[in-house]
This record gives sequence, C-alpha cells and structure tokens, in this order.
Amino acid sequence: MKILSDPSAIEVIKKAKNIAVLTGAGISAESGIPTFRGENGLWTKLSPEELASFESFYQNTAVVMEWYKHRQEVIMKCKPNPGHYALNELSRLPEHFDLITQNIDGLHQRAGSRDVIELHGNLLENYCIRCGQKYSVEEFDEVFKNAINHVPRCHCGGLIRPNVVWFGEALPRENLEMAYNAAIHADVFLSVGTSGQVRPAADLPNLAKQGGAFLIEINTQKTVLSGEADLILQGNSGEILPQLVEDIKTLLPKA
Ligand code: OAD
Repeated sequence: MKILSDPSAIEVIKKAKNIAVLTGAGISAESGIPTFRGENGLWTKLSPEELASFESFYQNTAVVMEWYKHRQEVIMKCKPNPGHYALNELSRLPEHFDLITQNIDGLHQRAGSRDVIELHGNLLENYCIRCGQKYSVEEFDEVFKNAINHVPRCHCGGLIRPNVVWFGEALPRENLEMAYNAAIHADVFLSVGTSGQVRPAADLPNLAKQGGAFLIEINTQKTVLSGEADLILQGNSGEILPQLVEDIKTLLPKA
C-alpha cells in the first residue's frame, strides 16, 4: 500500500537534500514504552513535579531514583520497533539527514542510528552531581544495589542522578543548537510521535516550516502542530514509517 499519493509531496521529497526528523515518545510506544500524555500516559497517573525535577530528586532521592531505576529496567527489556529501523534506513537516502529525539530510551541508537541529537538526555547514563563522574547502567546497578536507603552516592559522597533533563532545567546547549540548525536547513521535516507540547523541542517543526521545509506529521492523533503540517499521516509510526521509506525509495532516482 502506497501512502505517498499527493504529487506535490512527491516532488518536494524527491528534491529534498536535507531531511530532519523530530521524534517523541509515540515512536517508542509500539516498543512497549508508555508515552507521557494521552490515555494511559505517565503524566496522567504520576506527577512530573514529584518525579522529574531537581528539587524532588534532592528532597526525595530514594523515591525518584527508584522510579528512574524502574524505567531503566523497562527500557532495557524493550526493543526498537520497525519505526526506529525505518528512520535508520531513511538516513541513507538524502544528502544530509538529522535525527533529533526527545526520547531518553536510546532505541534509535539500538536500531543502528548514529549521531542522534538527544534533547532530553539518556536514561541509560548517570552522573555524580558533585564531581561529574559518569556511571554506566552496570556501574550504577552496583552502586544502587549497595546504596543505603536507596540513595545512590558516588565515591566522592555526591548524589548520582540520571542524565535526563528535568522540568526547569536547560537542554544541552550544543545539542539544541544542532537541532535548530537541522530544522532551519531542512527541506523536509518529519514530526513523529510527539504531542508538541514541550518547548523548545516543540518549536522545531515551526522553525523548519518558517525556513521553507515541507512539514510531515506522523501521529495516531491530531496535535497542536497538525495545523501547520503540509502532510498528515495518521496512524502508528511503526507501520507508517516503513511504508513511507519504501515509497520514498521507489520515487528517488536510482544511484
Ligand atoms: P507525549 O506523551 O506528550 O506525546 C506522545 C505523542 O505520541 C502523542 O501525540 C500521541 O498521540 C502519539 N503516539 C502515541 N502512540 C503512537 C504511535 N504508535 N505512533 C505515532 N504516534 C503515537 O510525548 P512527547 O511529545 O515526546 O520530557 O513529550 C515531550 C516531553 O514531555 C518528553 O520528552 C518528556 C515529557 O515530559 C522530559 O522528560 C523533559
């Protein structure tokens, strides 16, 4: 089944030299990782203020770290889905390709994508807030197993936290600059599985559009970004992305 039937979309994609993609929690939903908003979303049951802020980590380290440890375990058990693999395949088609993600699950990398621009960090990394020492999942597990009252501490005595961006914290500057750059220069920009509610990531599709990009949204539902999209592909990204990549491959001139 072809999904690219709009001749204007075909023309734009065919000519595209720069393709940029922004992904959100929706792309990992079919891998079994819950999204944040919408039905059964994490933030409908839990309070972000109590679990995803530096203040709560500092005041309630054990509770916050147990929750992150649990999420690490969920992520480790999950596998990339066809949507993640399709984006890796898409990366080889244009002259230049950027993959920007708000996800902290590392599933794009596990599907083979390289140079992923992570805007909100990576849950499989941890570091000491005092001396900055990094802890891999295995090293962190060892510390966590022996932690007094589930409060993980570095050998220097500092608290160990996950390398994720919490509410009220700045995004990694270099990655944000790379993401802005990718959006501004994109000929085609895909917004995949994101509700578009968290800035500054949510500004990227509009920025791309202002820079002249053809904006494609892939989502199971309409979002605040849908009004701006040139093409809306409604459904599961794990089904739509592989089809879209097939369509693009057939319409590109043979090398
Ligand atoms: P959200 O949970 O806000 O939105 C997920 C989006 O994915 C929704 O629009 C769903 O309709 C869509 N969706 C669900 N399943 C899908 C599927 N199989 N295929 C395609 N789309 C699907 O997640 P994000 O937009 O990523 O921030 O949330 C942004 C940020 O808010 C997160 O990075 C996190 C959170 O608080 C931090 O932790 C800093």
